[in-house]
Amino acid sequence: MVLVAGGYDRKDGNKAIAEDRANLVVYGRFFLANPDLPRRFELNAPVYKYNREIFYISDPAIELQQKQDENKCNMASETPAFPLLTPYKMGNFNLSHRIVLAPLTRQRSYNNVPQPHAILYFSQRTTKGGFLIAEATGVSDTAQGYPDTPGIWTKKQVEAWKPIVDDVHAKGGIFFCQIWHVGRVSNKDFQPNGQAPISSTDKPLKPQLRANGVDVARFTPPRRLRTDEIPQIVNDFRIAARNAIEAGFDGVEIHGAHGYLIDQFMKDQVNDRTDQYGGSLENRCRFALEIVEAIANEIGADRVGIRLSPFANYMESGDSNPEALGLYMAESLNKYNILYCHMVEPRMKTVGEIFECPHSLLPMRKAFKGTFLVAGGYDREDGNKAIAEDHADLVVYGRLFLANPDLPRRFELNAPLNKYNRETFYVSDPVIGYTDYPFLETTS
Ligand SMILES: Cc1cc2nc3c(=O)[nH]c(=O)nc-3n(C[C@H](O)[C@H](O)[C@H](O)COP(=O)(O)O)c2cc1C
Repeated sequence: MVLVAGGYDRKDGNKAIAEDRANLVVYGRFFLANPDLPRRFELNAPVYKYNREIFYISDPAIELQQKQDENKCNMASETPAFPLLTPYKMGNFNLSHRIVLAPLTRQRSYNNVPQPHAILYFSQRTTKGGFLIAEATGVSDTAQGYPDTPGIWTKKQVEAWKPIVDDVHAKGGIFFCQIWHVGRVSNKDFQPNGQAPISSTDKPLKPQLRANGVDVARFTPPRRLRTDEIPQIVNDFRIAARNAIEAGFDGVEIHGAHGYLIDQFMKDQVNDRTDQYGGSLENRCRFALEIVEAIANEIGADRVGIRLSPFANYMESGDSNPEALGLYMAESLNKYNILYCHMVEPRMKTVGEIFECPHSLLPMRKAFKGTFLVAGGYDREDGNKAIAEDHADLVVYGRLFLANPDLPRRFELNAPLNKYNRETFYVSDPVIGYTDYPFLETTS
C-alpha cells in the first residue's frame, strides 16, 4: 500500500491515483481548513484557504472556530459559491437556488383536466426552496389549441390541481401556474360549438410543422375580437388567476410569449387593428398590461409574473422592433410592481431552436425593477455566468429539466445529463417521456 503526501490538491491527487503512483493521497492543510474536503472535491467546489497563523496556537476550539469562521467569510467573498446554487429572495419567497423549472406543455391532462400522474412529475422536479412554473394552462373554453392541455376555468380543474400543488408544497417547492390563451393558434375542433378561434386579427395562420417534425398543424382562420369583447377576455385571465390561488398555487405567470393571444396583440406582424389595441407600441401592449393590472388587483402584484418573448417569431408572430417592444414592456411593468418578468432569450426564435444572435436581454434586465428570469438554451455554464454577471436573478431550464428531474443536483455535482427525447415531449402516455427519466442514483 502506497500513501503519498505533500502539497497535493484535487487535480494532482486524482492524477496520482489515476496513474497508479499511489493507493491513497494524504491531505494535511487542506483537510484542516475544509472539514468536508472529500465532498468539496466531489463537487469541485471552492476550498477554503488554511490560515497559517492558527496552526499552532494553543487556544481552545472555540477560538479556533472563530478564526475559521472569519476565514470562511473571507473565502466566501473572494470565491463566490456556485452562482446557480446561491439563495435568492424573490419577493416573499425564499428560494434556496436559482434553477427554475420552465413551463412545459405535456399534453397529458385528458379533457383539459390535470391528472394524478402529474403529482409524480412535478414532485420529481421539486426541491426544497426550488421554484417551479407549471405548464401553460387554459383560462377559458376558447383558450385551447392542442389536445389534452390543462385548464383552470372549471371547478373540476381547480380541484384536480389541488393534490398536485399540495405535493409540491409538501416538498418545500414554490409553484406558479402559467395561465394561457392560444388565440389563433387553434382550430374549430378545440373551440366551443366549432366556432372560429379568437385573436387580435382575422389574419389566418399557415399550417405549421408540429414539434415532432412530421405532423402538420392546421388552423381555422380566426375571428378578430371586437373592442367591446376585450374586457371579457381580460376578465377570463383575472378569474383564472383567482382560481389558481384557490387551487393552492403561490402565484401565476401570465403567458405573454410564443405567438399566443397576448403576443398576437403585442407584435406588429400580427396585430392590424385600428382601435386603441392596435397601431402604436403603446396600443399593442395595452391588452397585456390590462391583464397584468387586473390580475395584480385580484391576487396581489407580489404573486404575479409574466413571460415575454419579444424576439421570437414563432407562429408568425414577429415584431419589426423587438428591442423597443421588450424595453417598453419592462418599463411599463414597473408601474404595477409585479413580482417578476421572465424573458426568453433572443437566440430562441422558435420554441426549440437556438440561433446565433447579436441581441441581448440586458437592457430589459436593467429596466425592470423586480426579479428577472431568463430562459432559452441555457446549460450549467452559461446559467452560472448569467447569474455571476448579474444578467438575471434566476435561470429557467426547459428541456434539460424535463430530462433530468434532479437537475439542480446534477449541476451541483457537475454530473452527466440525460438527453431529452423530442419524440416523447407531447405523447399522451402518463409515464413515457414524463416520469421515466432516471435520477442520478439510478443512472449508473
Ligand atoms: C415540450 C415543451 C413544451 C413547452 N411548453 C411551453 C409552455 O407551456 N409554455 C411556455 O411558455 N413555453 C413552453 N415551452 C418553451 C420552454 O419553456 C423553454 O422556453 C424552451 O424549451 C427553451 O428553453 P430550454 O432551452 O431550456 O429548453 C415548451 C418547450 C418544450 C420543449
